Amino acid sequence: MKAMENKYEVVKSHIKEQLLTNKIKPGEKLPSIRAVSEQWTCSINTAIRAYQELEKEHLIYSVPKSGYYAVLRSASSPQATVERIDFSAASPDPQVMPYKDFQHCLNRAIELYEDQLFSYSDPQGFFSLRRELEKHLAASQVFAPPSQISIVSGGQQALHLLSAMPFPNGKNAILVEQPTFHGMLRTLELFGVTTLGIERTADGIDLDELERHFRNNQIKFFYTVPRFHNPLGVSYTEAQKKEIARLAERYDVYILEDDYLADMETRAKADPIYSYDQSGHVIYVKSFSKIMLPGLRLATVVLPTALMETFRMFKASCDSSTSVLSQAALELYLKCGMYEHHSTMVRERYKVRLQALADACRRHLSADFRVQIGEGGIFSRILLPESINSNDVIAGLHHQNVRITSTDQNYLRTFKRDNGVRVSIIQTDEESIEKGVALLAKTVAAIEEKQKKAGYWRMIDWN
Ligand SMILES: Cc1ncc(COP(=O)(O)O)c(C=O)c1O
Repeated sequence: MKAMENKYEVVKSHIKEQLLTNKIKPGEKLPSIRAVSEQWTCSINTAIRAYQELEKEHLIYSVPKSGYYAVLRSASSPQATVERIDFSAASPDPQVMPYKDFQHCLNRAIELYEDQLFSYSDPQGFFSLRRELEKHLAASQVFAPPSQISIVSGGQQALHLLSAMPFPNGKNAILVEQPTFHGMLRTLELFGVTTLGIERTADGIDLDELERHFRNNQIKFFYTVPRFHNPLGVSYTEAQKKEIARLAERYDVYILEDDYLADMETRAKADPIYSYDQSGHVIYVKSFSKIMLPGLRLATVVLPTALMETFRMFKASCDSSTSVLSQAALELYLKCGMYEHHSTMVRERYKVRLQALADACRRHLSADFRVQIGEGGIFSRILLPESINSNDVIAGLHHQNVRITSTDQNYLRTFKRDNGVRVSIIQTDEESIEKGVALLAKTVAAIEEKQKKAGYWRMIDWN
């Protein structure tokens, strides 16, 4: 054994040897972190690190709340691991995350913000960070002073607080696009809020229908994801955004604009609805989960002045303030220019992947599929042939180690659903996209074939 090896490397190489020689069998559960730490008299962190490194080599995988398992290998090549293709992910690719930079920021944050760590902080967020965000947001045409900017524990928290709090228009129903982000739907369900839906397609929404909702239905706010929609991947046109802002003012309805992928924008002129708001009816939410680490739980909200005080009270009663350490790391990351540098890199990577997805779909999918490649960002939608049940396809792909999600979860229970799957490129690469789309085509063809045979036999039975 080399003297220089770290303890985690020793532990890792021992377990790796057991995996490659089948002493730990494919699919078998590995010893718990605690058991590893006891067996090797090492710290829990060392055991975790050893498993994380094995996971990076695709030798093991983790199941939340269960543990680590040896990956399955193909029969023809017992040593080769079966590659997992993940079209379902929404969190950033660890391979593109500058982990070392984050680590550096967090270490510096502990040193520089030591005083704040010892006390509770402003529910609205650090003033110095809000000043930094004022500049950051202005670059995407969101002009607001620090007094209107709040820092929250993730975009999801903003959606939660805004759904719960009363609004000055005194109305109670919430209007959502259909389909929409499932995290928002679960929140509304939990609160038992009256929720109405309006269909969103690649062409946008029917603005006359939006006006009817605003006029007749006591809408407190309209929740919208204008840019790189989740799950559709599409964006509104400038004219549509202007009209939404105009209707909001006319009918005293608020717009909750969820700009979760603002940093992925590649078009020169793609301003948010917020920039067209003349009457203080647009609430702008921007998540930092797709650029920073989602575990830091960071997002910012720009609020009309009429909502500031109530929002502050709801935020304070929820968690007092957003983690001081996360706020400090974001402030440093913005100030030193790493944020800008990293988002440029991520944007370029995801753009290449979306192009690869478009090419693969053209190559492998027949005209029976309706493919909507995202205009940017991370999501695209594929509508399956009419006769095919999306859950059968998802299960079939799962068996082949391809993860993909149905868009069922993005619909209100009462709304007509489509027969679609959401394809995320965030944790893929060009090669896995190509393979994954080919497997999708093959799986659908196999299901169609099976259905044809079943139909044939049914016909014979009938006679
Ligand atoms: C549309 C949309 N809004 C909000 C969020 C929540 O992001 P956060 O991690 O900031 O809570 C997500 C997460 O994927 C999302 O897709």
